[in-house]
Amino acid sequence: MTGLSGAEVRRVGNHFVKRDPAVAAEAERLEWLAQQGIKVPRIVDQRDGVLTTEAVPGVPASYDWTDELRPAVVATFVELARALHSLPIEDCPFRRDLDTTMAEARSRVAAGLVDLDNLEDSYAGWTGEQLLAELERTRPSSEDLVVCHGDLTPDNVLVDPRTGRLTGVIDVGRLGVADRWLDLAILQRELTQEPFAAFLAGYGLTGPDQDKLDFYILLDELF
Ligand SMILES: Nc1ncnc2c1ncn2[C@@H]1O[C@H](COP(=O)(O)OP(=O)(O)OP(=O)(O)O)[C@@H](O)[C@H]1O
Ligand SMILES: [Mg+2]
Repeated sequence: MTGLSGAEVRRVGNHFVKRDPAVAAEAERLEWLAQQGIKVPRIVDQRDGVLTTEAVPGVPASYDWTDELRPAVVATFVELARALHSLPIEDCPFRRDLDTTMAEARSRVAAGLVDLDNLEDSYAGWTGEQLLAELERTRPSSEDLVVCHGDLTPDNVLVDPRTGRLTGVIDVGRLGVADRWLDLAILQRELTQEPFAAFLAGYGLTGPDQDKLDFYILLDELF
């Protein structure tokens, strides 16, 4: 399988082998998260752009859940987001704040690394320069910094299919200190309205911060 970033991931027996130039960064984050008590796959090996991890049991949270189990899966997202977002930011060596991500976005556009053929409908046909200009124009004036996963999609959260409980979180290469809406915006984009509202209530927010939500969805287009 090949992910959005172009990473190549293969299952080999009870291991997953990910080939991507950025796997060293992902391995460091996996180690750090394990030290913080967050459930992540164990690293078997990491060298020369290849990361081998132990297979996490279970299914992706994007699974087609029964009505009976859906609340348990939402509760798993709440628990995971709260656990990550309550880690002390002073102890986190990885940055994903606006200065960091905006600089990275600019260099990705300059290097032609942004996939302009798969933009959200509202940005269809935009150039990289237009996306950057819109990012600058809508850049939030403040950041509510927490430890963010950086790509908190249901495919990256694995759960037990019988209980909906977390078995492990994967694809952590973009973890770092950022505004909590970096994670929440991606979740909002991936979940339908009703589970997202239930998620937000469990997480402890009454409603979305629409400006940040729009901004972080736009930012994600550049990664
Ligand atoms: N340790 C693991 N245990 C179980 N499943 C895994 C594991 N590693 C990868 N997978 C499976 O492989 C898929 C792709 O892996 P991963 O999410 O790390 O890469 P990606 O989505 O291609 O990367 P990116 O988001 O950077 O493009 C996951 O969605 C998951 O189904
Ligand atoms: Mg993934």
